[in-house]
Amino acid sequence: MRVFIVHAHHEAKSFNGAMTQTAQRALLAAGHEVLVSDLYAMGFDPVSDRRNFTTVRDPLLLRQQTEESYASEHNGFVPELQAEMDKLFWAEALILQFPLWWFGLPAILKGWVDRVFAVGRAYGGRRWFDRGVFAGRRAMCSVTVGGLAPMYSYSGINGPMSAILFPINHGILAFTGFTVVEPFVVHGPGRITPAQRSEYLELYRYRVLGLASANVLPGPNTADYDESLVRKAGISPADDQDGSRVPAARRP
Ligand SMILES: Cc1cc2nc3c(=O)[nH]c(=O)nc-3n(C[C@H](O)[C@H](O)[C@H](O)COP(=O)(O)O)c2cc1C
Repeated sequence: MRVFIVHAHHEAKSFNGAMTQTAQRALLAAGHEVLVSDLYAMGFDPVSDRRNFTTVRDPLLLRQQTEESYASEHNGFVPELQAEMDKLFWAEALILQFPLWWFGLPAILKGWVDRVFAVGRAYGGRRWFDRGVFAGRRAMCSVTVGGLAPMYSYSGINGPMSAILFPINHGILAFTGFTVVEPFVVHGPGRITPAQRSEYLELYRYRVLGLASANVLPGPNTADYDESLVRKAGISPADDQDGSRVPAARRP
């Protein structure tokens, strides 16, 4: 399998660093191909604007998606973005490796998505979800979190992790067609013992080696929706009423 890891941590000796090193070693040893974009090491610029393009559709008014469509048609992305797009299209599986920052992606990784997932390349023309550009490929969030697991339960103070990761799993990955693997979440890596650290890394090794068969999150079936993307009559209500996409039957 061809695996692309997008790594968003500024410290190689961090737990995130150890996770990416573990994944890379395990996958390569098992005969898989791996590419890593280490965003901080690359000095990746996360700001999305005209600097994305070598082409100009309208010099007077910057409409980001209009310029993205035009650049897609005219091979007009700057080399550093084109290189990331090439890796994305090369990959059969994508891993986003990041620490949870303010309930979301660190800015450098959010900016990578903002710039690389461009209209005309990653989506557009009603290519989304099961009809999406990356249909047939897998994606997974591998996340470290400062807070402990009870804080991120349904009754915990922060609510469930599934709701926090929903904008990423659903709004970015499923939207562009990926089959989304259940996230691998490590809570409080700064507070664990060396033995627990090794145990987590071993569990993660198993997860990346089993990426092709790991459990996946439910995603929408576009055939269930009409032209306005309203659910068709007669289709039973979604299990995602609270936005978490965790079926009611599986909630604690
Ligand atoms: C800017 C910033 C925002 C953070 N936001 C959160 C948060 O929303 N929830 C949380 O549990 N931890 C938060 N943390 C803690 C990190 O998630 C935690 O330090 C990290 O996952 C530990 O992994 P590491 O040892 O590889 O850095 C935040 C840390 C920083 C620096």
